[in-house]
Amino acid sequence: MIINEKLKKIWHGGDYNPDQWLDSPEILQKDIELMKKADCNVMSIGIFSWSALEPEEGKFNFQWLDSVIDNLYKNGIYTVLATPSGSRPSWMAKKYPEVLRTDYHGIRYSFGERHNHCPSSPVYREKVRIINTELAKRYAHHPGVVMWHVSNEYSADGCFCEKCRSKFRGWLKNKYGTIENLNKKWWNGFWSHNYSDWSEIDPPNPLGENGSSILKLEWRRFNSELVIDFYSEETKPLRAENPDIPITTNFTEITDIDYDAFAEKVDFVSWDNYPLWHSPEDTYKTAVRTAARHSMFSGFKPDRPFMMMESSPSATNWQGVAKLRRPGMHSLSSIQAVAHGSDTVQYFQWRKSRGQSEKFHGAVVGHDGGSDTRVFSDVKNIGKELKKLSEIIGSVPHNEAAIIFDFENLWALKYAQGYRNIDSDKGLMQCVLKHFEALWSLNAGTDIISSKADFSKYKLIIAPMLYMFPDGLKEKIEKFTATGGVFAATYISAVEDENDLCWAGEDFYPLRDVLGVHFEETDALYDSDSNKVEMFGDIYGCKNYCELSKITDARSLGTYMEDFYAGMPAVTVNQFGKGNAYYIAADIEQKGLKRLYEEMLSDAGISHMNTPCGVNIQTRRSNEDIFTFIMNFNALPQKVNIDFGGELIAGSYADNTIEGYGFAVFKKPL
Ligand code: GLA
Ligand code: ZN
Repeated sequence: MIINEKLKKIWHGGDYNPDQWLDSPEILQKDIELMKKADCNVMSIGIFSWSALEPEEGKFNFQWLDSVIDNLYKNGIYTVLATPSGSRPSWMAKKYPEVLRTDYHGIRYSFGERHNHCPSSPVYREKVRIINTELAKRYAHHPGVVMWHVSNEYSADGCFCEKCRSKFRGWLKNKYGTIENLNKKWWNGFWSHNYSDWSEIDPPNPLGENGSSILKLEWRRFNSELVIDFYSEETKPLRAENPDIPITTNFTEITDIDYDAFAEKVDFVSWDNYPLWHSPEDTYKTAVRTAARHSMFSGFKPDRPFMMMESSPSATNWQGVAKLRRPGMHSLSSIQAVAHGSDTVQYFQWRKSRGQSEKFHGAVVGHDGGSDTRVFSDVKNIGKELKKLSEIIGSVPHNEAAIIFDFENLWALKYAQGYRNIDSDKGLMQCVLKHFEALWSLNAGTDIISSKADFSKYKLIIAPMLYMFPDGLKEKIEKFTATGGVFAATYISAVEDENDLCWAGEDFYPLRDVLGVHFEETDALYDSDSNKVEMFGDIYGCKNYCELSKITDARSLGTYMEDFYAGMPAVTVNQFGKGNAYYIAADIEQKGLKRLYEEMLSDAGISHMNTPCGVNIQTRRSNEDIFTFIMNFNALPQKVNIDFGGELIAGSYADNTIEGYGFAVFKKPL
């Protein structure tokens, strides 16, 4: 599936804010010349343009936008057109204060910043409907418009106004039916917290109830759904005018929206990618972190490409240290997105603003206004490479391994008290990344999926710290394994149900049958603590968590060597039907995990290979071809010494070597 038939290339461009330069027509003209020079074919326009589009209530000014979109189109550059709800004109905030959010003290925010409207405000929803309708009527049939970019990086922080509070109560009533049922499901006898009426329920806040994990979880779920509902409202006038224009909204690294649920509502997933390249951590670790994000955004809709809607072509001004990309890294970072299934390389921003908070953010065109810069030539270079890759659009990764990551599980772990409270998420993200890194280092392509996803296309599925274990998942995992899949779970898995109640009695530890172990206790370790695991004849360190379980049916692969649980199983495998299920009871050091994954990948029949540290391989497939991307996240060249066969279509691979921060792309018939 491709994003839009009108633009059958890898999209290359970025956020463009011509409304900041309306008094300088020569700059707008120069932009076109430079865009062509950099092989840009798409620009995202109007993201924060509401005050330019509707300077007074009900008085619209579209002339400037008409001429920008026309002019781009005449020059072969397409438009991703935004709706402007990410920020609002100040006249609106003044006249209708209810469009602003209210904090938990009940104090209304004043005008300023962005991504901060009240999601329940009927006035805001109506104002958004009006402007979106105007935009749709005017541009939905413009030949240059290829996509709707709805709002910008929605946030779900939560608004505490009366409207939002009462909506929350209504949402709970709808879910639980009676207050007695809610009390029971929430275990509200604890600390005498039974409610007698819906009106008594307030959102969690530091002045009131801030300890109830289920209240926090439900408030988070409610806010996530409210944002998705707001988005759906926004799309109605756009869809109504021309259903053929695909719609997206740019996701980001925040974790308080269930993006997996949100992804169902967008035509193509898009996200904004700002890695901390060249930070004190090893660059390959940054590459792993970024790869994991790409794999998650790609995994939401594995049947189609995703979009990298934003990335910085240079420094990122809001990062702790706004470090420049080293030569080569801009291209490599862009190719990494494409390797994972992005059909776009887009930037924030095209031209650097002269004022305000983003005046030092990387941009294709800097304050000098010309093209004779290192950054411009980096962009131009990758523009050229992307042109060579036009034939890969629509192809997708066909990964056979998947890691389960549920946003609700992350929230539940955050709100739980227990384990290593010194890690706000109890170490979940770190754990997911460690497992992803093991697979990445063995070049086994991996999707990150939700527990609700279709398991049937995978051969290996890993559940790292899947603490919240919804109803029905036990049967789903058992079926996957029984029919030949390889499954693995770690410590702190299958602890509670989706209502935040611990599995108990007969239902205790739903993984016991598939794993063939009886779980008893989890030992959380201090940073200064450690233990050792003997596995496959070697000794590996472990930290943070050691779980104590008894084997019922499984076979031990590794045992603890120290403390009162020396000799107890730390890694086990259990044959379950036609498949095998692994239990990883301890947080084992990376090289031990990698060793274990070699075993599990072979067991699952997934091909994998070793490459020099920091060199990574990803693939995409069309109906005819397989495209192999080889990337080197080291500053120095690396001899890979693998014959990939087929035709080299981009990058370079002279002498079986990838240059420092270099890449190569091969095409081979399937
Ligand atoms: C976000 C926003 C952009 C811009 C960039 C800067 O991703 O969507 O408007 O602020 O960050 O990195
Ligand atoms: Zn509100």
